[in-house]
Amino acid sequence: MKHTPVLVQEVCEAIPDLPEITFFDGTFGFGGHYQEISKYLGDRLKTYYGLDQDPKTLEVAKETYEDSKLNLQLGLFQNFEKYIPVESQINVFFLDLGVNTPQLKSGERGLSVYEDGPLDFRLSPKFHSKTAVNLLRDMSLKDISEAIRLMTSLTGSRNIAAALKDFVQPGNGPFTTQRLLLKLKPFLRYKKHHVHPATSLFMMLRILVNQEMEALESVIINAIKHLPPEGRLIVISFHGLEHRLVKQLLGTQTAYGKILNRKAIIASPEEIEKNPSARSAQLRVFEKSEVAI
Ligand SMILES: C[S@@+](CC[C@H](N)C(=O)[O-])C[C@H]1O[C@@H](n2cnc3c(N)ncnc32)[C@H](O)[C@@H]1O
Repeated sequence: MKHTPVLVQEVCEAIPDLPEITFFDGTFGFGGHYQEISKYLGDRLKTYYGLDQDPKTLEVAKETYEDSKLNLQLGLFQNFEKYIPVESQINVFFLDLGVNTPQLKSGERGLSVYEDGPLDFRLSPKFHSKTAVNLLRDMSLKDISEAIRLMTSLTGSRNIAAALKDFVQPGNGPFTTQRLLLKLKPFLRYKKHHVHPATSLFMMLRILVNQEMEALESVIINAIKHLPPEGRLIVISFHGLEHRLVKQLLGTQTAYGKILNRKAIIASPEEIEKNPSARSAQLRVFEKSEVAI
C-alpha cells in the first residue's frame, strides 16, 4: 500500500525564488513530497525539516532516507516551534493535510470503512489520549448529532447519534468498526458503485479524535507569524471543512501578506487519472509581506 504525493509540480512551483531555502514540512508522511522537492531544489536546499505525528510512519521514513540536509522528528505540526532551532529562518512552511494511504486503508487504527479495526481513530496515541470510543462516551447526544449534521453528508443525525451513543456503552464491546457499521446499517443508504455511506462519518470521527480543525487553525496563524518576509505557507487540503477553514483563515491574515492564488490550484485531469486521491486536493499559497505591516 503506497502513498502517492499530490500536486508535486505545483508545490515546487510555489517555492519562492530565493538562492537558499530552508523548508519545513509539517506532514512528512513517507516523504513523497520531500523526494521531489529536494530534487527540484538541488543545491538551493539548505535544510529540510520533516515532522509527523505518527511514529510508525516516521520510522519507515527514517529508514528510507539518508540525507544530511534532512532533519526528521516526531511531533505535532501545531507545536512546530519546538522542533525548529530559534536561529533557523523557515522560507517555506508546507502542509499536506490529513492522512497517508496506509493509515487510511489499513484496519489498524479503524479509519477504513472496509477493513475491520478498533474504534480508535488516533493517528498517534502519544499525542491523543482519547479514542473514538472515549470521545463518543464523553460527548452529549446533542453534540454528536450536531457534529453529524455539520460535518457529514448523512441525514437522520439524531438516530445515528443515538446508535453511536448506545454502541459505545461500557459492556457492549468489542468496539470494532465492522460491528459499528452493522449497528448503523438501518440508518445508512448503501448504493452500488457509490462511496461507502459511512465515509463522511468515519472522517468526522477522525477529525474530532485528532483535533484536526483546532490544529489547523493554530498552525496557520502561527506559521504566518513565524515566516520571514517573502516566506511562503503552502497548504494542500482535501475536504470541504479543511478547504473552508484554510481559505477563511488566510483571509484573516492579509495584514501580514497576500494569498498568491485567488482560486485554489487543483490537480490536472492527467494526475487525477493516475491518482484518484488527487481529485479533492486544493493547494493554497500565502506569501508574507516583504515588510511585515
Ligand atoms: C497526506 S499525508 C502526507 C504525505 C506526504 N506529503 C508524502 O508525500 O508522503 C499527511 C501526514 O500528516 C501527518 N499528520 C496529520 N496531522 C498531523 C499533525 N497535526 N502533526 C504532524 N503530523 C500530522 C499524518 O500522520 C500523515 O502522515
